[in-house]
Amino acid sequence: MSYANSQSKLEQSKKYLAGGVASTLRAAMKPTPLFAASGKGARIRDIDNNEFIDYLLAYGPLILGHAHPSLTSALTEASLTSVAYGLQHEGEIELARLLCEILPCADKVALSGSGTEAVMLALRLARAHTGRRKVVRFHGHYHGWSDAIFTSFPSADMKQSANSPESEAQILPGTGGQSERSLEDVILLPWNDFEALEKLLREEHGQIAAVISEPVMCNSGCIKPKENYLAFMRALTDELGIVMILDEVITGFRLGLGGAHGKYGLKPDLVTVGKALGGGIAISAVAGNAEIMKHIELGTVSHLGTLNGNAAATAAAISTLRELASNGGSAYIQMNEVTNELVAGIRKLLIKHQIPGILNREGPVFHMMFTEQSIVEDFQAFNQRDAALYSQFAELMLNEGVLVRTNGLWYVSAVHGQQEIKDTLHAVDHALKQLKIK
Ligand SMILES: Cc1ncc(COP(=O)(O)O)c(C=O)c1O
Repeated sequence: MSYANSQSKLEQSKKYLAGGVASTLRAAMKPTPLFAASGKGARIRDIDNNEFIDYLLAYGPLILGHAHPSLTSALTEASLTSVAYGLQHEGEIELARLLCEILPCADKVALSGSGTEAVMLALRLARAHTGRRKVVRFHGHYHGWSDAIFTSFPSADMKQSANSPESEAQILPGTGGQSERSLEDVILLPWNDFEALEKLLREEHGQIAAVISEPVMCNSGCIKPKENYLAFMRALTDELGIVMILDEVITGFRLGLGGAHGKYGLKPDLVTVGKALGGGIAISAVAGNAEIMKHIELGTVSHLGTLNGNAAATAAAISTLRELASNGGSAYIQMNEVTNELVAGIRKLLIKHQIPGILNREGPVFHMMFTEQSIVEDFQAFNQRDAALYSQFAELMLNEGVLVRTNGLWYVSAVHGQQEIKDTLHAVDHALKQLKIK
């Protein structure tokens, strides 16, 4: 497979676009960051005319695949009447109403542009509501790249790698140019550790505004919460007057229409959603408890953003949610069945090729990693995976016509089907064979 056009485009791009890519993560792709030409359904085409089955799905948002007809027509219609007003419009009310119906924790919602912004707003609401400063977050979770929460993050495709034991103890900024002081109010804990959470919250609750957690540790190994862990977090935060924020930017509308909190029967105070909400168009939301959301109404917390709730984004989100809810939620059945088959097939192939590896999966998202361990249930175990070997695998998969993220996280869309499963397992078989020989 040739990537010559992508390679030369990257050089052109570097002349004008800082780093040659529009988001730092994308630079990690090997053998070169690909330049896309088009996408349709579960497949994407690059400018060298290579076609790939797409499990990157734009890092998660494309839950309906590429160029889904309902999204395309919603966007076309929006563009004919105007994509943005800077005034209120019907689409905002419609989307907010839908979100309040769909998300179990939502009395009210606020709309923003990205997951990062939604998390920023949620943290502010929590501080304003409690009058406290500190925020508890967990090792291996990612909550966007704002100064207030971006800690050094151990992902194979992020620049900084925090595998050293030192970084387990310290809170390091996630990037150069970020003041270390910005993290003074952040307390980092191991996740899934009942004792550590209880000890800290009981000792310091007078200072803690919020606990923020991914419901499934999707950003580091797709690790599930231990039984009752999130319910325990809920009970403890309730008792101590701490705001519980579930960051559902990945899990929202992916694990089910009601996200992880719907699936697990939880009622966090606030949730943040993004990615799948817009089906590929930039939009995010904070949803939650009316008492906390009222700080926006009161003006105690400013919620700003020129393009918040713009007509194109709200149209995209409404059509994505309607599509996901249609036919009794058959999209979720389809995504889960495809993921079942893929995960089972890949596990079999790992055994066939005698390559030790693990697939951790929750609904239509899974993490594939190469490791000698028989289970990966915490961040430390996750850090022992062979990330470099996986990155080679991802490159081999590309040559076999399958696009996967270099860190091991796979997303399945509602339009992946039997043909994609067959072609993907064939590609995995070939890639593993070559990996062994290398
Ligand atoms: C759990 C989680 N929260 C927040 C974010 C930030 O979202 P965005 O990239 O849209 O700013 C991400 C992005 O991957 C995420 O995975």
